Amino acid sequence: MTLPLNSNEHQTLLNNRTLLVVDDEEPIRRVLGYLLTSHGYTVEFAGDARDARQKLKTQPFALMLCDVNMPGESGMDLVRNVLAEYPNTAAIMVTGLDSSVLANAAIEVGAFGYIVKPFETNEVLINIANALRRRRLELENRFHRESLEDIVRTRTIALQHALDWLERSEKELRLSREETIQRLAIAAEFRDSATAQHIQRMSHYCELLARKIGLSPERCELIRTASPMHDIGKIGTPDQILLKPGKFTEEEFDVISQHAEIGYKILSGSDSELLKVAATIAWTHHERYDGTGYPRGLKGEDIPIEGRIVSIADAFDALTTQRVYKPAFEISHAIELMLKNRGKHFDPELLDIFVASADELTRIHDQYADRPVPDPTQEA
Ligand SMILES: [Fe+2]
Repeated sequence: MTLPLNSNEHQTLLNNRTLLVVDDEEPIRRVLGYLLTSHGYTVEFAGDARDARQKLKTQPFALMLCDVNMPGESGMDLVRNVLAEYPNTAAIMVTGLDSSVLANAAIEVGAFGYIVKPFETNEVLINIANALRRRRLELENRFHRESLEDIVRTRTIALQHALDWLERSEKELRLSREETIQRLAIAAEFRDSATAQHIQRMSHYCELLARKIGLSPERCELIRTASPMHDIGKIGTPDQILLKPGKFTEEEFDVISQHAEIGYKILSGSDSELLKVAATIAWTHHERYDGTGYPRGLKGEDIPIEGRIVSIADAFDALTTQRVYKPAFEISHAIELMLKNRGKHFDPELLDIFVASADELTRIHDQYADRPVPDPTQEA
């Protein structure tokens, strides 16, 4: 690929008035030399193709006047090769034979003009002036195109950098938002000894079920990210109730039940789609399909789909992990227990789809198994 030239180099090329006269006859070279230098051109001479190639290597020429018939390589071949190798040099053929076939062949190889010997002074000067004007136009056109290509290339790179930066920032923001949510959720859950793994399992069970029932990828992602906040309202539950071993009294149960509404109040009122979904989940994850849940006793499909999903995932996680009041049940046993509540506690269709994914549930359960919490009072 030819690198684009800067504007100084463009001007040097455009203003070049150095010509190369290639002819095996010395008198012709002399006449042309005199004529051209007296009209302001700088002229170099070559007696044959080989000599011409040597001269071309030493400096740039604006134009080559080339005899057709020379000993050794023909002028026609020389012009063809030179035009390919030196695209900034124009060429005019000079011949003793006035032939339309030869003239066409000269144009065909890329020559800008064709002069028949013996030539008139004006004929030579006009041919050269025309050839140089055409060369100038072609060069200006090429510089303009290269400059445009350069601008497009530079702007494409800048745009790509900006897009990369945006993508990185967006990813960083998303991760940081997700981590903040998880840490807040862990903080709320930490008081009743739920673990960070509970949050992760929950969100993956929810995402799995959302995906299996055919919700859009965006909705699945929202549910995965929002579900860890389902119990955030527990920060409003007094310790003596939240941490009480054994059964709750009716009054205590009323207090603990308020965590759904407290969570909703904390999360609602935002324009963020994520917080809207989180508020819905907090408010409805203890509703039951048969209408016996809380806080509003919603029934069936009046319970938002997000609440029905989290209700299933939350119960499944509670059954399959160890709690102070119970051991961890086998997944098959947990599914058995949940199926007994099909259509009562849980949405029957969602539950069927959930339990049909036992392999994937097992994988999530094992991947995010509870790990012992490090004791901060012990030195490392
Ligand atoms: Fe809850």
